[in-house]
Amino acid sequence: MAQNQTAPLSGIKVVDFTEVQSGPSCTQMLAWLGADVIKIERPGVGDATRNELQWNPDLPSYYFLQLNSDKKSLSLDAATPDGKEVLTKLIKEADMFVENLHPGAMDKLGFSWEEVHKINPKCIYGTIKGFPLSSKYRDLKAYEPIAQATAIAASTTGWWQEGAYDVPTQSGAALGDSNTGMHLLIGLLAALAQRERTGEGSYVYQSMHNACLNLCRIKTRDQLTLDKIGYLTQFPQYPDGKFGDCVPRDGNIEGGGVLGWCYKCKPAGGYDSEVDGNNYVYIILQRGAKDFELACKGLGFEDWLTNPDFNTADARDRHKQEIYKRIGEWTADKTKFEVTEHLAKFGVPVGPVISTKELMTDETLYDGNTLVRINQGGEIGEFVTVGCPFTISDWQPTYGPCPSLGGNNEEILTALGYTKEQQEAMAKNGTTQPVDDHK
Ligand SMILES: CC(C)(COP(=O)(O)OP(=O)(O)OC[C@H]1O[C@@H](n2cnc3c(N)ncnc32)[C@H](O)[C@@H]1OP(=O)(O)O)[C@@H](O)C(=O)NCCC(=O)NCCS
Repeated sequence: MAQNQTAPLSGIKVVDFTEVQSGPSCTQMLAWLGADVIKIERPGVGDATRNELQWNPDLPSYYFLQLNSDKKSLSLDAATPDGKEVLTKLIKEADMFVENLHPGAMDKLGFSWEEVHKINPKCIYGTIKGFPLSSKYRDLKAYEPIAQATAIAASTTGWWQEGAYDVPTQSGAALGDSNTGMHLLIGLLAALAQRERTGEGSYVYQSMHNACLNLCRIKTRDQLTLDKIGYLTQFPQYPDGKFGDCVPRDGNIEGGGVLGWCYKCKPAGGYDSEVDGNNYVYIILQRGAKDFELACKGLGFEDWLTNPDFNTADARDRHKQEIYKRIGEWTADKTKFEVTEHLAKFGVPVGPVISTKELMTDETLYDGNTLVRINQGGEIGEFVTVGCPFTISDWQPTYGPCPSLGGNNEEILTALGYTKEQQEAMAKNGTTQPVDDHK
């Protein structure tokens, strides 16, 4: 637990009724920011990710470990009378209640926003669902690709030319899951600040659809432009290809007004092999004359400075295929690291494509936040995860292990005033352990 004196959320109590990725990524941040997070899990089952994609069937998966550090686990069936009582007591003490069950499930369990607000009017209620309440899809269950597919991310990502790869494609980044968790986090922290003034908790509803769409703002910008003039100068289709009614997939363009592309390099060796296929570098030509001049010097293409096909940004947009071709020939016999080092000297925005292996073996990134090693103990030992993505000047998070299923039952139930006998009775009646355990 981040028990630092100055931890931003020290003293904040969270009842965490989330599972899989979207919700747990939010409560992970709350825990790292110093909140006391109690994760409610179904007895004998737990968060589905505990047993998903395991490398050893007897151990919790890395999926679970990446999202549940520094939380406490209470195994609790919230549908039994005792379970409802325990949950009610926890809510009475809580600052936040966070859930991401399927639409309608929390109402059925009797812990909707309205009910929780009655139990504790100061408690902020955070919820994640697939779609906004206004959507015709609001009752659907949702996972990551559904969010990307329905919120214009997939239709605008991938290859645009006819052929096997001309299909809507999802990003490797979790735009529907962890991104939604971060959006909910913003809402919850805003509600916490609001409660300072009003004294009352409010309801924060975050859909995966809205979170994903919020990152696709430049695509709505492009649609507006396309509607007006029928083409988009920054796209590979301009000026010779065809545009339809909607924003096309854009391959590797930069997305703004500057001219960017991803170029093949020679493998650097080590983890940059031909097999893994990440021997690429991303290079951007800026629009300004001075920047372009420097880039031409770096590339050795000074002839472009006097050639009207290339010496203005608009001309370059019209001749981008020739630019891609020539720069691609230039990078082909260099490694992505050589290109980066060389062009950076000329002030060119440039960066190597980095693989998971390259990133996770880069010791400079183990800075206490970017990548962190958590000691889980036991057979798992140390594992690597992505840390808190921002820094705060007078506070540094600490990163502790993940709980076992129900690993904090006794501590939590005792603190709520339940005697040993009562706890045993709850284990036997299916509230904290599966009934099957006692047959
Ligand atoms: C992720 C999702 C698709 C999984 O759906 P699911 O397999 O039906 O699983 P859920 O956990 O939501 O619900 C399963 C049941 O367990 C119950 N349950 C879960 N935890 C419980 C607990 N501690 N005590 C009692 N019941 C519990 C639920 O009430 C639900 O019961 P019901 O089906 O009778 O209503 C769905 O929860 C969802 O769409 N969530 C919103 C969007 C989201 O966050 N998606 C995940 C992105 S990573």
